[in-house]
Amino acid sequence: MIRLEGITKEYFMGDVEIRALDNIHLEIKRGEFVSIMGPSGSGKSTLLNILGVLDQPSSGAYYLEDVDITHLRDKELAQIRNRHFGFIFQSYNLFPELTALENVIVPLTYAGKPKAERIERAKSLLVDVGMGHRLKHLPTQLSGGEQQRVAIARALANNPTLILADEPTGNLATDQGSEIMTLLQKLNSLGTTIVIVTHDPGISTYGKRLVKLRDGAIVEDRAIAEIKKDA
Ligand SMILES: Nc1ncnc2c1ncn2[C@@H]1O[C@H](COP(=O)(O)OP(=O)(O)OP(=O)(O)O)[C@@H](O)[C@H]1O
Ligand SMILES: [Mg+2]
Repeated sequence: MIRLEGITKEYFMGDVEIRALDNIHLEIKRGEFVSIMGPSGSGKSTLLNILGVLDQPSSGAYYLEDVDITHLRDKELAQIRNRHFGFIFQSYNLFPELTALENVIVPLTYAGKPKAERIERAKSLLVDVGMGHRLKHLPTQLSGGEQQRVAIARALANNPTLILADEPTGNLATDQGSEIMTLLQKLNSLGTTIVIVTHDPGISTYGKRLVKLRDGAIVEDRAIAEIKKDA
């Protein structure tokens, strides 16, 4: 589904060059569940943002379904994001003045779905993530785990083929984090490809494959089942 070839990302702070990613080769196949780990500053968020075409590499190539999309224009990249990707963030990023239902409706509106269909689909997504009883709550009236479930429903609105999540459980208590990961596992078993970034080794094992970064480079890439067998 996705192939990164020799991706490098550099930032310049005055004269100082910071190499956030250094010659990354990574292939992600349909149906995978990849956990990305690594120390703070190792390039995890940079890599996730490049995978989600939220950011462009300094060099290297990005293939989506074998098509080189590295040099597409912003508008075309935005279309790819809306059609193919769903994003989940550590801080949920819900609109504070909108209810749970309205938050999930937002991307459906962007996709140009008729009003009745938007409401029906948003409700059914919220029921799927166990939030059918909180449709009219504002984000401030929900627990962290509940807010993240609304954010997941919103990420799923336009049937993404890939979900990208940066520290999705980073602000959650352990039990709420496990619930979110169980939900992501269920989505993966139904066919959605998932890539998450986490600091937490326990959380990483909900995935099927572990990619470890250090100083912007991949230093380990293994099946979680193999790692568990060795442990
Ligand atoms: N916009 C930017 N300008 C300059 N340097 C940046 C920028 N974004 C990231 N960096 C640098 O690139 C490196 C990788 O950052 P990144 O955010 O990808 O790390 P991370 O692995 O996600 O860390 P954390 O676990 O703390 O979230 C860091 O050294 C960071 O300081
Ligand atoms: Mg980060």
